[in-house]
Amino acid sequence: MEIIIQPTHHELAAITSLIIRDALLKKPNLVLGLATGSTPIGLYKALVKLHREEKLDFSNVTTFNLDEYIGISIEHPESYHTFMSKHFFDHVNIPSENQHIPQNTTKNHEAFCTSYEEAIVRAGGIDIQVLGIGTDGHIGFNEVGSSLSSRTRIKTLSLSTIKANAIHFDGKIDAVPEMAITMGIGTIMDAKQCLLLASGEAKSEAIAKAVEGPITAMVPASILQMHPKTTVIIDEAAASRLEEVEYYKRSYANRQKLMSQKQ
Ligand code: PGA
Repeated sequence: MEIIIQPTHHELAAITSLIIRDALLKKPNLVLGLATGSTPIGLYKALVKLHREEKLDFSNVTTFNLDEYIGISIEHPESYHTFMSKHFFDHVNIPSENQHIPQNTTKNHEAFCTSYEEAIVRAGGIDIQVLGIGTDGHIGFNEVGSSLSSRTRIKTLSLSTIKANAIHFDGKIDAVPEMAITMGIGTIMDAKQCLLLASGEAKSEAIAKAVEGPITAMVPASILQMHPKTTVIIDEAAASRLEEVEYYKRSYANRQKLMSQKQ
């Protein structure tokens, strides 16, 4: 795992956008795995800015979102379809036929989940998967106890996730859908690169467990320790419970030094 610690959320969003920009310049038909929630909003803003100001071209990009609630319409203001349009898709040039978000309207969820996995394979697999992390260590809606090799499927949200997400539903716990379709942990692990983002003190315990704790289904993000190319990009507050901060900062500085010598 590569750990990048930045002063604030602003810098981590900027660094993440540059990682995606560089990958996109190398591979115009990049396949991106995308996340919703408060954490990636800054990243989407930064990518939109690159599109507007540097003409970063998304016209050959394909995207697959991690998850979508079941039980609210895709037009609902808090659906992840609405989120993605509002924060990203309405502002860049990704063809709509290349945008994939789990469909919650299907009657046959099992067939849909299989077809979602097949569509990812048909697209050539996910090049870069963007991830947030729950305070309990979940990724996507893979809640505590999820199989570490799970595929796209329906999950019931944990109480901790429902409480955390109530903020988006006027604070009403009862208004938060109880179920979602989510890519599995195995699906996420198949991505060629993962970018795990977190900011704020509230995420510090989950980050410490995911990065420095044992690999366990009780902290789903901890499986990323087994991923060959995961970069954890966090602010100082989210890094505050890590034991090896000095080492992570020094090794990042050394990598930067090497990169600048190459240029
Ligand atoms: P957040 O959610 O970005 O809104 O904190 C992350 C998550 O629960 O995966």
